[in-house]
Amino acid sequence: MIFFIFLIVAIVAIVVLLYVYLTWNFDYWFKRGVPAPKARVLLGDLPNGLTRKENVVYDIEKIYNDFKAKTPFVGIIQTRDPRLVVLEPELIKDVLIRKFNNFRNSEFVDMIDVKQDPLFAKNPFFLKDEEWKEKRAEITPAFTVNRMKSLYPLIQDVSARMVKYITIESKKSEPFDARELSAKYTTDVVSNCIFGIDAGSFTKEKPEIREMGRRLIAPSTKLFIKMFFAESFPFLRRFISIQFMPDDVKDFFVSLMQQALKFRQEKNVQREDFLDYVIHLKSKKNISELEMAAHTISFFTDGFETSSIAIAHALYEIGKSKRVQDKLRDEVNNHWDNNGQINFETLSELTYLDQVFHEALRLHPPAVMTSKMCSETTDLEYDGKKVTVEKGLSVYIPIYSLHYDSQHFLEPKKFHPERFDDGAMKDYLDRCVFLPFGAGPRICLGMRFALLQSKAALAAIVHNFEISVNEKTADPLIIDPKEFLNVKVGGLWLNFKPLNEE
Ligand code: HEM
Repeated sequence: MIFFIFLIVAIVAIVVLLYVYLTWNFDYWFKRGVPAPKARVLLGDLPNGLTRKENVVYDIEKIYNDFKAKTPFVGIIQTRDPRLVVLEPELIKDVLIRKFNNFRNSEFVDMIDVKQDPLFAKNPFFLKDEEWKEKRAEITPAFTVNRMKSLYPLIQDVSARMVKYITIESKKSEPFDARELSAKYTTDVVSNCIFGIDAGSFTKEKPEIREMGRRLIAPSTKLFIKMFFAESFPFLRRFISIQFMPDDVKDFFVSLMQQALKFRQEKNVQREDFLDYVIHLKSKKNISELEMAAHTISFFTDGFETSSIAIAHALYEIGKSKRVQDKLRDEVNNHWDNNGQINFETLSELTYLDQVFHEALRLHPPAVMTSKMCSETTDLEYDGKKVTVEKGLSVYIPIYSLHYDSQHFLEPKKFHPERFDDGAMKDYLDRCVFLPFGAGPRICLGMRFALLQSKAALAAIVHNFEISVNEKTADPLIIDPKEFLNVKVGGLWLNFKPLNEE
């Protein structure tokens, strides 16, 4: 009997302690006079983070819309920890640019375990402080205009392979999954630009690099659960091993780099690509083989997924609007040269192509939000309202919600590339209301490369095919709750009709 009483008391005590632990911070924002929604036990203010019924971006969107008219910032609870969502662009500018030094690191920097993920750990996105500065400076010269120009013929080769593939496949009268098509394209482009090899995504039955690329970024449910516990119960973190990149995937890419390196040295191949840049770094700074592998794999991971999502959505929007498609095709065709292509300089001067791609990025930003960790207690102040952001607190920048805010964009749900006419894009970027690549010193490092490979693909497709949206595509589109990036449930299904067949 005594045992049962003891057991019941112990259970009640544990439940009470757990409740106290989980709700400990629930009055954090209230005590500081910062507007905040009412958090729920275990779910906090972002219930989808746990339930995964919807993508978390919809939780943020709801909070954004509920609070936007009342306050420049809103305090939320993620599971049990406070976070600040910044709603006012002037304050976003403070975080990303003006007070960058106090918000220089991403929220995820401490998530990566160097032992488990030695290659991811060297990606600038996950680095912090001096190491980030050093690595970013080391990699930046790999993205100069000159280097992009020398990569362009490689990109054109892959574009031609893609056009051939679509031409053949379109005869089957089956729709194409735009995401898979774009991922094949970007996988081949980055494999070619980094390792100097043809990944064979358009020719092989089971292209291994595409498969490994898919596994490189696919977050498993197990990983989500581990991340949830590591975030909710930080004291458990050292017992939970979080590994983003499976060992066999890591070994595959390291070996790929070693083979590419060996081939290049033995055959004395001269190519001004990313591998060449990494070899140059080794001779200049004596970086280790692991660091070389980390650089090449960072290029690979960062290079194919975000761009393929962006290309897929741009194709979808082009397929939906005949007006935009015709106007874009006119521009592309008018600049198509006698060699059956668009040269490097001309591609970057195609204004409407640039506007179409950026408008697709506005409606479907691959990264729906970004977050920064405060490294020095900082005051953020706007219109007489002030919040003190304490050291260690994470600040969320709601990229997706900003892009859909009618205060910043007229008819925000409409795909209207002309909104960027007459150089208006600069104004949106300067005001920090349009942030597909982020802003400030941590702005996307590969932006130039992303624009190049994406525009080359869009120009080639629009020149060669008429695009329409297949009825298999969901309407409205919904962001997949299981994905970190902006991927749509059910895929984006498109029809391609060849235009230039003899
Ligand atoms: C359309 C395609 C792309 C989009 C929309 C995109 C978007 C972004 C965003 C939003 C960030 C975070 C900025 C921040 O937190 O302030 C970022 C960071 C980064 N991106 Fe991209 N990206 C794209 C393509 C690429 C490509 C092709 C590469 C490389 C080959 C790349 C490399 C990086 C790196 C290294 C960072 C971390 C930069 C740092 O922390 O210093 N990205 N990107």
